[in-house]
Amino acid sequence: MKNQTEFKSKFGMLAAAVGSAVGLGNIWKFPYVVGTNGGGAFLIIYILCVLILGFPALITELSIGRMAKTNTLDACGVVSGKKCWNFIGAFGIISAFLIMSFYFVVAGWSLEYIYQTFATNSFDGIDTPALQELFNTFAYSSYRPYLWLFIFILTTSIIVSMGVQKGIEKASKVMMPMLFAIIAILAIYVAFLPRNVGGYRFYLDFDLSKITFPVILSALGQSFFSLSLGLGAIMVYGSYMKEGNVVGISFQIALLDTLIAVLAGFVIFPAVFAYGIAPGEGPSLAYIALPAVFSQMPGGLIVSLLFFALLAIGALTSTISLMEVLTSNICEKWHFSRQLANLIVTMLALISTVLCCYSMADGSKLIIFGRTLFTLFDDITSKFFLPLGGMAMAIFLGWGINKDKLRTSLAEFGMKPIFFNIYLIFVRFVIPITILMVMIQQK
Ligand code: TRP
Repeated sequence: MKNQTEFKSKFGMLAAAVGSAVGLGNIWKFPYVVGTNGGGAFLIIYILCVLILGFPALITELSIGRMAKTNTLDACGVVSGKKCWNFIGAFGIISAFLIMSFYFVVAGWSLEYIYQTFATNSFDGIDTPALQELFNTFAYSSYRPYLWLFIFILTTSIIVSMGVQKGIEKASKVMMPMLFAIIAILAIYVAFLPRNVGGYRFYLDFDLSKITFPVILSALGQSFFSLSLGLGAIMVYGSYMKEGNVVGISFQIALLDTLIAVLAGFVIFPAVFAYGIAPGEGPSLAYIALPAVFSQMPGGLIVSLLFFALLAIGALTSTISLMEVLTSNICEKWHFSRQLANLIVTMLALISTVLCCYSMADGSKLIIFGRTLFTLFDDITSKFFLPLGGMAMAIFLGWGINKDKLRTSLAEFGMKPIFFNIYLIFVRFVIPITILMVMIQQK
């Protein structure tokens, strides 16, 4: 069944898609991945991944959606006339579910830290070991992460159940400009702090010796995760697109997403260095090192609120897109109302998210292959599922459908004829072969 749903405006579509792309991956994860994996050298590899793989993969995913105009489970079958390709959509559903499960947990943490900013008067007088303790007690042995993730899931489901135009588009149109304003204010503020230079140097320190195959794989995985590629989130938004140039929009998404990620590093590292705090890796960077900064910084309360609001807003527009993938499929496949479909997704999300959160608790038994469910889901999705999903979509458009049909559709979506052959080389060879090579080297 073709869906009739569409975004109202081009700007709304862009805001929703950039909203999906910009999230915890940019603000929470990207800075520490760069900082610990070779700085500037990693950044160059990352940008290459975005340009060579991410950008054409965005065009691919948006185009499949826009050609199919239906849910992701049926999209590839509708476009090619061969149902066997529908496995791509099904695979994406699994990835969306796994990502959602750990993503809500980290998203919830941002709400705790908004609360803590008030409760502790922006971490006043709490030193780094105590901040570590605060984080550990909160995340691993209290009931509060569950409270916050519940609130986050509920907010996301309310917006999704309000529909594409009235819920998703409206929310994104308000939240995305806010997000850009906040990060710009923070980056400018931090640029004026004394002794911040070491931070810029640490962030962008060019260390080629750190670039190994696993690091390239993590750049690839990070770029797919950050651009929301490989599971159908961008495809769904493509199916709601009624106008606009697919190539142009893909470029804007790639550019803005990368800009926010790089800017997040320009906020975090100079701030941490200005106050002589060791930049920790992983969650500790945003949730331990930064609060230590906020406790000493002039105007720390406001900066802290702005920073954690930034995290929460970024995360919310991303959870919306993850939930929309699942909701729209159930809604269209089973002819359920959007609200009922969303209720089912919300229930499932609650169960899996709570399990993920519990897997990190002290003494939890939910450990698989030596990892908590939380890290397992994070790892397998960004390192395998998303790149494989993106590769399958490229192979599908490159080899699975009639070339002339593809040429006509892409021309209709705004691709200049001279670029078509180049694009074809990318989807047929460059994307599949690069992803495959990186994966084989990974073992
Ligand atoms: N891109 C988001 C981030 O960087 C996460 C995300 C939202 C996502 N929707 C997605 C990742 C779909 C992969 C696929 O935080």
